[in-house]
Amino acid sequence: MELKQANENLREFTRVASHDLKSPLRGIADLVEWVREDLGENPKPAVVRNLERIAERVAGLERLIADLLRYARSEQVDAECVLIDFPALVRDILRVDPLPGGFSLDVSVDAEPLSAPWTPIETVLRNLIANAVKHHDLASGRIAVDFRDDGWYCLMSVTDDGPGIPEHAKERVFRLFRSPGAAKRTGLGLGLALTKRLVEIHGGRMELVSPLLDQRGSSFRVWWPRTPRRTNNG
Ligand SMILES: Nc1ncnc2c1ncn2[C@@H]1O[C@H](COP(=O)(O)OP(=O)(O)OP(=O)(O)O)[C@@H](O)[C@H]1O
Ligand SMILES: [Mg+2]
Repeated sequence: MELKQANENLREFTRVASHDLKSPLRGIADLVEWVREDLGENPKPAVVRNLERIAERVAGLERLIADLLRYARSEQVDAECVLIDFPALVRDILRVDPLPGGFSLDVSVDAEPLSAPWTPIETVLRNLIANAVKHHDLASGRIAVDFRDDGWYCLMSVTDDGPGIPEHAKERVFRLFRSPGAAKRTGLGLGLALTKRLVEIHGGRMELVSPLLDQRGSSFRVWWPRTPRRTNNG
């Protein structure tokens, strides 16, 4: 399918999702709340538990819709460029999503200052760092975030010592909602699709190298153009 057609379909789908799914879902959430209130003093625990489950699933769907909207909006190229302070960027990310105990993260910078839009780069790194933690199979792990120059690009890598990603799954992990985690409800499987899209619409590209050492570890590499791309997304 043509990329343009795919984008058009996605926009259409997102519009429908946001308008036609959001309000009935809210309606269901309200109904669940009212039923719970009407149950009175000593409701059956099983009923209460099932109502909670309904509420949880509704909340999950609401998150999914919010993420879809985020994904569709990522098509707009964020034009405002700032000088990226790489260590500050990583600190910002870790302030909002602190690493769990047992995990460490090293930042190394060997790059000229980069003028680029802050939010998309932050979103990209946030997703990659979150994945390095979330999909790690051990209680402790090491993450390395590197920034270096590579010709016209700034090369940013997020490397972990987790389980790695097998050859047959390498392409699939970048597709929407294809995460095995989606089934285990550890995640929606949206992060990498969003990340790749953000990188590409800004004129960059992305690559996954895995395994690294002893059949383990993954390294996600992002080439971000040092000169912002002119937007022609219309
Ligand atoms: N650093 C990593 N190490 C091992 N597996 C990974 C890593 N990053 C991603 N994966 C695999 O790729 C899948 C897709 O990642 P993606 O970020 O798109 O989805 P997710 O993390 O499962 O959910 P979401 O990002 O929407 O919360 C993950 O479910 C996981 O199986
Ligand atoms: Mg993720």
